Amino acid sequence: MDHYNAATSEPPPAVPDDTTEACSRADSDEDPLSETVTDPTLEPGPHLEDPDDSSSRNAPSNFSVSLSVDNDTDSAIGGVELPSSSVSASSSVYEFVEEYGRTFHKYKEGKYFMPNDIPEQERLDLQHAIACKLFGKLALAPVENPRRVLDIGTGTGIWAIEFANEHPESDVLGTDLSPIQPDYVPPNCRFEIDDAEDEWVFPHHFDLIHARFMCGSIGSFPTTFERCLAHLNPGGWAEFQDYYVRMQCIDGSLRGTALQRWNELLLDGVARSGRSGLAAARFRAQMIDAGFVDVVERKFALPGNPWAKGRREKVLGTMQMTNILDGLHGISIGLFTKVHGMSVEEVELLLDDVRKDLRNKDIHFYYIVMSVYGRKPE
Ligand SMILES: C[S@@+](CC[C@H](N)C(=O)[O-])C[C@H]1O[C@@H](n2cnc3c(N)ncnc32)[C@H](O)[C@@H]1O
Repeated sequence: MDHYNAATSEPPPAVPDDTTEACSRADSDEDPLSETVTDPTLEPGPHLEDPDDSSSRNAPSNFSVSLSVDNDTDSAIGGVELPSSSVSASSSVYEFVEEYGRTFHKYKEGKYFMPNDIPEQERLDLQHAIACKLFGKLALAPVENPRRVLDIGTGTGIWAIEFANEHPESDVLGTDLSPIQPDYVPPNCRFEIDDAEDEWVFPHHFDLIHARFMCGSIGSFPTTFERCLAHLNPGGWAEFQDYYVRMQCIDGSLRGTALQRWNELLLDGVARSGRSGLAAARFRAQMIDAGFVDVVERKFALPGNPWAKGRREKVLGTMQMTNILDGLHGISIGLFTKVHGMSVEEVELLLDDVRKDLRNKDIHFYYIVMSVYGRKPE
């Protein structure tokens, strides 16, 4: 598996710790100038107990990052110019709501803050490519020949389609509020419009339940994990993959930037909407509380732009920079105007500065992206 800098938290011995391998590989990338440092502005934070505590800027515990700054300005890569009740098909779910020059889901209108138009769909597919490169595979849970698979909040359905292609033995169901999945899909893949926060009424149990990048969508993960447990076959797995949305930094260069202000406004806006951008830090404990066993938490560092040394880091950083640049308007416009009371003009002005920071390779920021998976007892 081709992993990136990462560290794990208490993996069971049966599961190979390939994240250690990734750390070694990154460490062996010789550069006398490189050094691994921790942001001195970060304080030991209480957020693992309370991830919504915005006074904490710390990363989740047990995470060591070995990203190092690339001082080679001639590098070939990294130029910043580089780019549950299902609803009937006849209902209004196929209509969209228009606002700010974007379209949003009509079913359960207003529930999810991001647009669902073509630019957002393209961004979701780019984000999928980032996740696949970062994790090395679609799912890290050691599931074998899953018969039935559920992907909640499937977006464009790209994960479900690829999983169905890789696993012809599986029957894959993707659900979402928005009908933005393609018509032509593998015969073992299908989609339904469904609110994951409604009661789950699936007619059968699953062997794998997957959810990715849903921290801004789901209000109660403990409830969701209980539902997963109730709808898994014995021995089945649930895997939740997500950003820890608070940006991290190796050296304090993020401090005081428009980018950091934007990130805090985003976290605060999401929190005021009853969600948490820091939810992933709690997944492991919440899965255990729900009754899952063999729970594994894996953390991966994703550079925010091509500032970090190493070809892999630059490619990932460039992809992530493009992801945020492409998503910036959609992420911010509804939330910042409705929740923070900013005018559209104020938001646009802030975003102009944020775009400059996003392209600035002197700001050494990164995200922690997590995969947490656990098994339903036999
Ligand atoms: C950030 S996107 C992630 C999409 C997909 N999981 C992926 O990784 O590409 C979040 C998705 O969740 C969907 N969503 C938000 N709230 C939802 C809910 N309550 N029930 C089902 N889907 C929801 C949105 O429509 C959107 O497609």
